[in-house]
Amino acid sequence: MKARTAILILTPCLVAAGILAASLRPSSAEMVVYKSATCGCCVKWIEHMEAAGFKVKAYDRTDMGTIKETYGVPHQGYSCHTAIAEGYVIEGHVPAEYVRKLLDDRPDVSGLTVPNMPIGSPGMEGPNPETYQVYSFDSRGVMNEYATVTP
Ligand code: CU
Ligand code: CU
Repeated sequence: MKARTAILILTPCLVAAGILAASLRPSSAEMVVYKSATCGCCVKWIEHMEAAGFKVKAYDRTDMGTIKETYGVPHQGYSCHTAIAEGYVIEGHVPAEYVRKLLDDRPDVSGLTVPNMPIGSPGMEGPNPETYQVYSFDSRGVMNEYATVTP
């Protein structure tokens, strides 16, 4: 009887904990980042993602071209680092808010890219920030505009 009472009292707590865990899931998403050892802006982007709550494991690689091909990043979408989060590919300096939106919405795409390295994107801070596009890309390498970021 005593144990049963305890279970009845605990159940709502477990439900509440479950809801809390679900709402926290995207911000604590794990991410693997491949980058070259000498990439300073990659480190700054990783810090941006960590500040947004992502748990990042970074690996220095000398075969970034092969990694981009393996994960199907279209050539016109190439940037510096290539990251994987919950099965999605994140190429370049994509702001954390769009990575989180992608993981929440789970659209039928391979991932997101910010091609090249526009000044003003996270990790590429500079005195003259540019307007730049975030693109999604699919398994055929087709890119579609996902967001426009203005300074
Ligand atoms: Cu970079
Ligand atoms: Cu990078």
